[in-house]
Amino acid sequence: MLIRRSYLQSKLETELALALTDLGIKFTPYVRLPQRLRYAYDVGLDDLNALIEYHPAARLADISAVVSKARIADVDIALARVADGSVVAFLDACPHRGASFAKTRLLANDTAAQCPYHGFTYNLRDGLLQSGLGCSEGCGRLAMLPVFVDDGLVWHGYRTITGETRIACTAEQVLDNICDNIHLPMVHTFGNREDPVPHEYIALRSSPHDGVATFRYCTSSTSAFAFLSKSKYLAVLNEYRLPFTVGTTVTTEDGLVKVICAHARDVGPRECAVFWSLTRNFMTSPLLDPVVDGIMRMTLAEDAAILVKCDPRHARGKFHSRYDALQVMRRHAMRNLGR
Ligand code: FES
Ligand SMILES: [Fe+2]
Repeated sequence: MLIRRSYLQSKLETELALALTDLGIKFTPYVRLPQRLRYAYDVGLDDLNALIEYHPAARLADISAVVSKARIADVDIALARVADGSVVAFLDACPHRGASFAKTRLLANDTAAQCPYHGFTYNLRDGLLQSGLGCSEGCGRLAMLPVFVDDGLVWHGYRTITGETRIACTAEQVLDNICDNIHLPMVHTFGNREDPVPHEYIALRSSPHDGVATFRYCTSSTSAFAFLSKSKYLAVLNEYRLPFTVGTTVTTEDGLVKVICAHARDVGPRECAVFWSLTRNFMTSPLLDPVVDGIMRMTLAEDAAILVKCDPRHARGKFHSRYDALQVMRRHAMRNLGR
């Protein structure tokens, strides 16, 4: 029911976009996902369950054996109609050197895509490399993405799960900890102790109430992304929105996106409730929700295990590393807000 509601909302927006197209204004179904999630936090926690996002990618009539391109939630997607008439979607970046497939024609009776840069071809059933100069078959893979067709439109879906977790520390400690990226290698199973450095770390205050830090992090062999993606680096975007919301968006080089939003409130002298959502564009089958939920809860348990050892009176720290910029900015902003 909730899925349907969110889907219907998307459809209404799409009707509007299509009407604009008919008036000669370009149809661009571009949505920046974190803002949509933040909006849901603003309207209230009850709406968290509505966070199953469907985005129109294209009109079915516009999809043919010539690859077309859509941009959704900061990701370029290639769409094509294959031999049996179905629509396939994949990340529009060749895994060899990142070229776009847009406007190329499918090969092998419309079952394969050929990259226009070095001519490598990929089977569109599973994305595996079919042939490429100097490469053996199957040594690379396109990132195939989930799509479905409804009402003459091609839809791309992100799947969200939500939950509530109690932690025996203050809400401030939890929010501070999520902004703190250098705890990842030490505290988390998915962290990379071999290469713990956040590369190209930049932190910016975007308004008196919002701040963001971006960096690249080397994928560890214990992270789920090591199995799901060929990406050597993860691009991480950490953000806070005062007073009580923080978010982390992780994107792989081959287009997998995971967004975690958390909203923490004190419910006792040393207990807080963390309301969280996790959105992803991989493992999107509802059957896999329990697996994703289990990983998220394990991650929060790892955070809880260290936070219960921290004295909240020292939460502001006696000194800071250069990678503590985001949480320091957030604390200053909270003070300015009178909290
Ligand atoms: S970038 Fe696609 S084949 Fe080289
Ligand atoms: Fe953590």
